[in-house]
Order: sequence, then C-alpha cells, then structure tokens
Amino acid sequence: MDTKIAIVTGANRGLGLAATKQLAELGYLTIMGVRDVEAGEIEASKLRSERLAVHAAELDIANSKSVDVFFNRIIGNFGRVDVLLNGAGIYLEGNAGFTEIDEATLLNSINVNAVGAWRTSKAVAAQMMQQAYGRIVNVSSGWGSLADMDANAAAYRISKAALNAVTRIIAADLAKYGDIKVNAVCPGWVRTRMGGPDAELTAEEAATDVVWAARFGENAPTGGFFKSRAPIAW
Ligand SMILES: NC(=O)c1ccc[n+]([C@@H]2O[C@H](COP(=O)([O-])OP(=O)(O)OC[C@H]3O[C@@H](n4cnc5c(N)ncnc54)[C@H](OP(=O)(O)O)[C@@H]3O)[C@@H](O)[C@H]2O)c1
Repeated sequence: MDTKIAIVTGANRGLGLAATKQLAELGYLTIMGVRDVEAGEIEASKLRSERLAVHAAELDIANSKSVDVFFNRIIGNFGRVDVLLNGAGIYLEGNAGFTEIDEATLLNSINVNAVGAWRTSKAVAAQMMQQAYGRIVNVSSGWGSLADMDANAAAYRISKAALNAVTRIIAADLAKYGDIKVNAVCPGWVRTRMGGPDAELTAEEAATDVVWAARFGENAPTGGFFKSRAPIAW
C-alpha cells in the first residue's frame, strides 16, 4: 500500500486540527484522534469536503483501553503508521506555582501530557519497528525546558519536562530499528483555546513547524527539541 498514514491526537481543534489539515494536504491519509467523535466527525467532514483524506476516531490518551482500541483498529485497517503527531495536551492551572496546585492537577497533567504520548508511542512502536520507518512528533513547550525553567504553571511545566524525557527515551530506543525519528517541538504561543486570543501565532502558522518535523528525511535528527525549525535547549 502506497498511501502514507498519519495519526494526530487532539485533532478536533487548535493546533491538532490545523496539523491534520496540513498533513492531509501533503497527501497523508490522516486519522484524527478525538475524544468526542460526533464533534470530530463534523471537522473531518469539512476537510473531506475540501477533498482531503481524513477520518475521525475516538481516542482518549489518558485511557489505556481507548488507546489500544484506537491503534489496533488503525493498524488492523491500514497496516502501517508513518506519522504519529502527539498534539493532545492540557493546561489546567493558569499561572499557579507549586504550592498553589493540588496533587490531582499535577497527576492529571502528567497523565495526559507525558504518559499520554508514551501510551500512543508504545502503541505504534511495533508497527514502526516492522516498517523500519516512522516519525513521532511530540508537541511540547519551551515551558518544559529545564534550561529555561520558571515557577509559574508548575503542573504544565513538570508535565512537559516529563514529555521531553519521554521523547528522548523513545528516540534512543526506536533509532535502533531503522529510519525512525522522534522529536519534540515547541509551537510558540498560539491562538487556540489553550493559548488564548492574545497569542502571537495562528494555529495554522504554528502547525507548519510541527508538521515540518513530521516530514524529516532519513538524515534528519532524532531526539531533538525544536522551536521555529531550530534546535532549542532541553
Ligand atoms: N497554545 C499554545 O500557546 C501552546 C504553546 C505551547 C505548547 N502547546 C501545546 O500544543 C498542543 C495543542 O494545544 P492547543 O493550543 O491546540 O490547545 P487546545 O486548543 O486546548 O487543544 C487541546 C487538544 O487536546 C485534546 N485533549 C485534551 N485531553 C485529551 C485526552 N485525554 N485525550 C485526547 N485528547 C485530549 C483536546 O480535546 P478535547 O476537545 O476533547 O478537550 C484538544 O483537541 C498541546 O500539547 C499544548 O500543550 C500549546
């Protein structure tokens, strides 16, 4: 089968939806992982009306069973996965520091933002190893950079730092199995529900830098952290 398959999590809105459209325009048959399938299908059908190959399917990355069902179905149906774009994320606490957040906020943030990407990456790992090809892009944040750490948004920062570690660990492992690149990208400050109306970038502008890493060639880096298409410090 020649069609390339891309999977995008958090694809029903914001950056994930913009990345879905761009991947589909590049010719990937793109599967949108969405928690609310009816709402996701509305977005998918708008894209299909533009002659783009897009499907929506239910996926809650905080739930192992949901992840298993979603990926078993896709791998069973299509027999390959070229791109996994981990876009889903939560930012619960505003500017709160570590004494102001409760334990549930911290654990939920880590569960979605870091463990979620581990769950989805684990679910595609065997397929990518078999193909000896794959691109995993984790949408991270400069707020997860240890080199540039600060006190606000404590749960979000901790969870994105953990996502960065997940990125490097998975990159190091999957590099043994062929042309498999796993990278983290900070999209910048983006006008989405998460980023708010004052953010600098549109979702479409930010998505181009995320999709850029999904299209890395064989000689491109793995285990990197990028912003505006340039490496940034972990
Ligand atoms: N916006 C920014 O300025 C900014 C800056 C740096 C990094 N980022 C990162 O960029 C990514 C996309 O953010 P965004 O700005 O597009 O935010 P957004 O508009 O709030 O979208 C977040 C997406 O994540 C999904 N999601 C949340 N929890 C999920 C779960 N358990 N399972 C599956 N999907 C889940 C949401 O689905 P529902 O609709 O079902 O909630 C939604 O599709 C995130 O990882 C975020 O941390 C954003």
